[in-house]
Amino acid sequence: MGYGSRSEMAQLAKAGRITLDGTALSSASGRIKVTPDLPTRMKIDGQPIDPVAGLVMLLHKPLGMTCSHKEAGPLVYDILPPRWRQRTPAISTIGRLDKQTSGLLLLTDDGALLHRVISPRQHVKKVYRARLARPLDGTEAALFASGQLMLEGEAKPLAPAGLEVISETEARLTVTEGRYHQVRRMFAATGNHVEDLHRESLGGLSLPDSLSPGQWVLLTEAQIALIFQ
Ligand code: URA
Repeated sequence: MGYGSRSEMAQLAKAGRITLDGTALSSASGRIKVTPDLPTRMKIDGQPIDPVAGLVMLLHKPLGMTCSHKEAGPLVYDILPPRWRQRTPAISTIGRLDKQTSGLLLLTDDGALLHRVISPRQHVKKVYRARLARPLDGTEAALFASGQLMLEGEAKPLAPAGLEVISETEARLTVTEGRYHQVRRMFAATGNHVEDLHRESLGGLSLPDSLSPGQWVLLTEAQIALIFQ
């Protein structure tokens, strides 16, 4: 969980700095069942331990941050508490948003969940709000809904997507896939250009108004289940 090496943890235990149900552990070699409530029972230096494996975070991704573990420049992982960046399994984003896309981004250390969410077979709906450089011309909704739109360099047409017109230059787009730069390329295929892109929701989860860019919350089991509703 990023707290330290085995020997460092043994030192902490020996020094009585790790407690379970209020009692200091005398050694770090005993076996303790890892249950979701462990952070309410185990403390290090009086602080509840971090969430155990299987966590899902909902982040309001700010503009200008990249969804990558290794690229140069600001990364979404810079937002995680430093210790959380040392965890194994690592916390990764569930799919990606472009550097210049803001909005709802999930992160998890649960590889199986990650693959389920991004699998096109699950048809998880992603809703984006796009501001466009030019007025919509009225042909977009039918084209996006057709299931025939072929993006440049791809072998398979896009699955049908839903368009809701908000204004002449603003639209809400619902897609069930997560192809590279998908929304930008869809509008580019109509001769338009996406100026601003923001993800409002994913499955049954919406970005709460109370969450400012850069802020995140841990999801409960019930909220995680909403992804697939
Ligand atoms: N489509 C895009 O073009 N960019 C994103 O970040 C997400 C969807």
